[in-house]
Amino acid sequence: MSVWRVKPVSAFEADMKKNDLKRVLTKWGLTSLGIGAIIGGGIFTLTGIAAHDYAGPALALAFVIAGIGCLFASLCYAEFASVLPVEGSAYAYAYGTVGELFAWFIGWNLILEYMMGATTVAVAWSGYFVKLLHLFGIEFPIWLCNDLATATEKILQHNKDFPTDLWDVPSFAFNLPAFLITWIVTAILVKGIKEAAKTNNIIVIVKIAVVLFVIIVGAFYVKTENWVPFIPDEVPVKDAFGNLTGKMNFGFGGVLTAATIVFFAYIGFDAVSTQAGEAINPKKDVPFAIVASLVICTVLYILVSLVLTGMVKYDQLDKAAPVASAFSGIGINWAVFIITIAATAGLTSVMLVMMLGQTRIFLGMSKDGLMPPFFKTLHPTFKTPHKSTLLVGGLISIIAAFTPIEKVSEMCSMGTLLAFAMVCVAVMILRYKKPELERPYKTPAVYLIGTLGVGFNLFLMTQVRAATWNFFLIWGTLGVIVYFIYGKRNSNLEKQGIDNSII
Ligand code: ALA
Repeated sequence: MSVWRVKPVSAFEADMKKNDLKRVLTKWGLTSLGIGAIIGGGIFTLTGIAAHDYAGPALALAFVIAGIGCLFASLCYAEFASVLPVEGSAYAYAYGTVGELFAWFIGWNLILEYMMGATTVAVAWSGYFVKLLHLFGIEFPIWLCNDLATATEKILQHNKDFPTDLWDVPSFAFNLPAFLITWIVTAILVKGIKEAAKTNNIIVIVKIAVVLFVIIVGAFYVKTENWVPFIPDEVPVKDAFGNLTGKMNFGFGGVLTAATIVFFAYIGFDAVSTQAGEAINPKKDVPFAIVASLVICTVLYILVSLVLTGMVKYDQLDKAAPVASAFSGIGINWAVFIITIAATAGLTSVMLVMMLGQTRIFLGMSKDGLMPPFFKTLHPTFKTPHKSTLLVGGLISIIAAFTPIEKVSEMCSMGTLLAFAMVCVAVMILRYKKPELERPYKTPAVYLIGTLGVGFNLFLMTQVRAATWNFFLIWGTLGVIVYFIYGKRNSNLEKQGIDNSII
């Protein structure tokens, strides 16, 4: 059936030739790129929400659970990357192997991963930026650096803590810093990222240095009594107005919810695959870098969570800038400066990678005829897909200005979890249908790892809130409709009359 047609390898080779990129990246160069894309809002911000509301000190356990799901997916991703060392992502791999509809649906979910991911990081950036200004004595009004729900929650909390100094609850709120940083990153991307790439390398080093700093210095301030109880007892969830919602926080269920939240922290290892065109030895080094960057970040994350929840009692952790606040809590103010500045820079670099990834996926899909030509129009001078970048930037800036971080990060995680599960399925299908393909890297025990990957990732999806599911189902349905109305009819393969499915 033609919806399972596969993009021929010769077509990929033609795409790659056109790019003609210099092959300069070694396996450790690729790994550092991966780490640069991974460490961001997840560890710097979402740890606060996950520990404070859902997992308590068992935050480290939530990181282990989410990390296992990612590890299975990364092992499958790595095999995919070695079979087809082309630039792109799971979308391109699936198109070259399993077929068009599968690829389309992965691409459609990657839109959630990258767009909602960049939105999450924009909101996280705002939290650290406001903290930075605070260190310089400048205060932002709460309604101008939060969405309405978060601003209301903060003001009600203030009124509870300071009954003699009651603040008015706002009827409007707008996250101005998140809005502005999105437009700054958009402008950089429209102009091209050559200069930005160099700065990015420096930022990656700074980011890793700060994470190590947090672990090493923070370890001296850990009080083991803060880890007890490791998994706090379940408590009923209340909304901002103190009403019961019928849900429970903490307990093992809370740890699983926390795992879906911190899953976000691992997203980005797939960004390595977008650099295959610049790798010296892509067939071997891309798979290596995917797995290595993930393993290194997992270890760092577990250590950071143990240190954070050991330094500060989980219910005292700040939800907007938890890592910096843990250090202000123990009075090391110079460390707060370093962490806040590094986090602000580090989050900007993750936004760059994610927004770049999004526009490049659109570019790839548009070149294949699955998306309108609008997404592949290049700027006459800058040679960047400026129209698509402006559209993506515009959407992200508006969503970031009005939406709570948990909501956007959950949408991002949903899209990614499904894309990961589909990658695991695709690798198993390919092994079965095309065992003869050359595979420089083979997923060990592929049917076991693949099945576990599908199971783990789908299971984490079931732990997400109902409202997120509703949106997700609408998004998925829309994806299928758009494919049949636009993609299938306009696909290059359709025009060339190619029908070479393996399914
Ligand atoms: N893993 C990336 C982050 O935490 C997306 O910001």
